[in-house]
Amino acid sequence: MHRRIIVPGALAMAALLPAIPATAASFSPGTPGIGDPYYPAYGNGGYDVSHYDLRLKYQPATDRLEGTATILARTTQDLSRFNLDFLLDVSEVRVNGAQASFTTSGQHELEITPKSPLRKGVPVTVVVRYSGVPSEKRAYGFTSWHRTPDGGVAANEPEAAWWWFPGNDHPLDKATYDVSVQVPDGSQAISNGTLQSSSSRAGWTRWNWRSDKPQATYLATLAVGRFDLTTSTTDSGIPVVNAYSKDLGPHAGAARASIERTGEIADWLAGYFGPYPYNALGGYVPNTDTGYALETQTRPFYSPRQFANGSNTSLVVHELAHQWYGDLVSVTGWKEIWINEGFARYAQWLWSEHEGEGTAQELADHVYASHPADDPFWTVRPGDPGPENQFDIAVYDRGALALQALRNEIGDEAFFAILEGWPRTYAHGNASVADFRRYAEEVSGRPLAALFDTWLFQPSKPAAPAARAASL
Ligand code: ARG
Ligand code: ZN
Repeated sequence: MHRRIIVPGALAMAALLPAIPATAASFSPGTPGIGDPYYPAYGNGGYDVSHYDLRLKYQPATDRLEGTATILARTTQDLSRFNLDFLLDVSEVRVNGAQASFTTSGQHELEITPKSPLRKGVPVTVVVRYSGVPSEKRAYGFTSWHRTPDGGVAANEPEAAWWWFPGNDHPLDKATYDVSVQVPDGSQAISNGTLQSSSSRAGWTRWNWRSDKPQATYLATLAVGRFDLTTSTTDSGIPVVNAYSKDLGPHAGAARASIERTGEIADWLAGYFGPYPYNALGGYVPNTDTGYALETQTRPFYSPRQFANGSNTSLVVHELAHQWYGDLVSVTGWKEIWINEGFARYAQWLWSEHEGEGTAQELADHVYASHPADDPFWTVRPGDPGPENQFDIAVYDRGALALQALRNEIGDEAFFAILEGWPRTYAHGNASVADFRRYAEEVSGRPLAALFDTWLFQPSKPAAPAARAASL
């Protein structure tokens, strides 16, 4: 699902052109990447996915995953063949019901040649039958499938999908999901969205999850293990389902004390960002030593050790802020990561203020003061950090500092109008840092090119703004 702006003039002109008869020569292969300069092989060209239906079976004892993906897409060019990003072993591919030939190439490309070429703009159904042991698969030397004592979990950014379903792996192509996973009785399968049902038969329980709003591939998640589920409803009426590994050891209490506040925190964030955009909510903690969290849509992934020092509601705030900043409005490419991380960090600063633990301005001053001018921290440019620094601390901390600088420049009224208006304006779509600057200029009525350049794009420590310099 890719939201496009339709130019009425161009459409009218196209309608006047005579239909061009399709010749074999007009059909060409879709590109093996969607065109992201940070990650040239990620995503694919030539089609746009609207829905993934994943019907799977997973055996925790052997880490074997098998099943069928049915992908609904539409071609965006006359297509002779196309790619999906995937790592597991494929036994059969069908395109519009007919058997298609396929081969693998590169690090994670599944190349599919349909029996007959596909015209531009037509619906396509792709069925991929597959199996494999995800923990045995590596691309570029790493894995995003984390084995746990009781199962496994797929969660990483930017790449997580290749280990469990074939897809167009880039945030530019969002789609809806049905994820149905059969696991041995006594185990649970956790995914995004609403648990439609679960039922047991012949020793296996099938868990049916539905995520019915556009969702980027890296935000789709699957965890299988032995979990305790809790359910509740937020004040605003959103059903909450959380899942905790039964084996969190000493971190169990702190994890629950944090994640059980998900509903309260989502409602609090809605006061800044507008209504919570989805009809499902929660969080889950598998028994993994991974060490990071991820804003998997509607149901963030957390690592036990992030609760080693007690409750960590700030982390919950961060992952839930991403539901607006990152999930509802997604990056157009991975270079735009500040759109996600700068805002999620700023939300943590607002929460700190709310909890009486220091104001956003105090935290901004602290970040500014704690990195001297020769600190390499300032060489990372949050507006274009490079793939190697995509999740550098500077993207988060200097990223949030940039927002405090913006707030001081345009005033609270315009600043908070922007925080609330942005998710609504680009809801379910994609946007860039340049889009945000334009939007902020429009709402504030102020030229902001210099401010954005200084705080996001210069590889050096910005001079303290005059108004603040006195206090530093
Ligand atoms: N968006 C995630 C967060 O800020 C970043 C996770 C990055 N870490 C990783 N290993 N991919 O919570
Ligand atoms: Zn984040």
